[in-house]
Amino acid sequence: MTADRQPHPLAAGLLPANWDEGTPDPGRLAPEHAAHVGELQRAGADLAAFFARAANGLAAAADLPELDERHTTLLGRERGHVTLALGDLPHVPLEERKRLGRAYNLAKRWLGELEAAQRRALEQEREARGAGMLDVTLPGRRPWVGHRHVLAQIREELLDLFHGLGYSVYTSPEVEHEAYNFGKLNFPPDHPARDAHDTYFVSDTRLLRTHTSPGWVRAMEERRPPLRLVFPGRVYRAEQVDASHMDQFHQVDGLFVARDVSMADLKGTLNTFARSILGAGVRTRMIPIYFPFVEPGAQLDASCVNCAGEGRTRGPDGERRCAVCKGSGWLELLGAGMVHPNVFRAVGYDPEEVTGFAFGMGLERIAMVRHGIPEIRLFLENDMRFLSQF
Ligand code: PHE
Repeated sequence: MTADRQPHPLAAGLLPANWDEGTPDPGRLAPEHAAHVGELQRAGADLAAFFARAANGLAAAADLPELDERHTTLLGRERGHVTLALGDLPHVPLEERKRLGRAYNLAKRWLGELEAAQRRALEQEREARGAGMLDVTLPGRRPWVGHRHVLAQIREELLDLFHGLGYSVYTSPEVEHEAYNFGKLNFPPDHPARDAHDTYFVSDTRLLRTHTSPGWVRAMEERRPPLRLVFPGRVYRAEQVDASHMDQFHQVDGLFVARDVSMADLKGTLNTFARSILGAGVRTRMIPIYFPFVEPGAQLDASCVNCAGEGRTRGPDGERRCAVCKGSGWLELLGAGMVHPNVFRAVGYDPEEVTGFAFGMGLERIAMVRHGIPEIRLFLENDMRFLSQF
């Protein structure tokens, strides 16, 4: 022992007066606490009193900084009371050294355990306080849910409309026999659509269907008239892709076969369709056009939704040509016509017995006209900024 060094026996008086204010309860931190005090009592009343106050002080620490400070006071590596007392032991006579050494080390361990338990308690309290700051009046975070693609919406709307007119849905394969896509639909052998430049062939006789009309042939081969069917699906064409062409897109065909179906029935059906999709004020016209599977064939146009059929629009910088209909006042909606007698013959129907009409439309085209979408590629790009608008 150096001359200026006083021995450091552990006694309650070493700790500050306000050290265990409050209602500390070390038993809350260590169930064996009372037994520990009792055990140290046997090594000395002073030591037991010191341990009891030290433990109270740890249990009374109000927050983590205070707990750190108290831990340093008791067990700090330089000047902690227990540390200093242990450091004095080599100078204590051997018999007493053994007894005190064991007791000090127990006190050190139990104080360490009490400190750790109080630290956990204070941390839990702090977390609970944090949770208490949750503002339950804030609006919740709604989980992200998707919605139907704009094309699916239009398809459902169309199928719903035609359902109301008595049509059922018929689906047929995307990989189709050449005979169903072309031959039985009265395409002449040299028709340009049959060329490998325009159609994706998967073998000599199989191809990706270029329209949904092969479904008529399949339906008519399976069933007897009368028939009232719609044919939704994806179709493929070997197109150079640009703002208004893609090499895959969607169609909905319609077919009505019975006795005495007339062009007037077709016209009425198409007008109902156009008004439902584009609004009651829309005007329509039919102009003749060639498709091998109908005779006569027609194209249905609707008055332009952008300029109300005027062909011109007025804006801040004066009057200009309508950009949507390119000044014509009309938008092309779909192809239609009376089913060609050769198509009936190909499926075993008697063209003297039945007549029918058919129509076919591109879903992308209908959506573009309806919503003023300028660019067909947007439908497949999966850009949420586009899709979330519909
Ligand atoms: N199938 C034709 C096409 O793909 C559309 C159409 C259907 C035309 C029915 C007339 C009658 O272009």
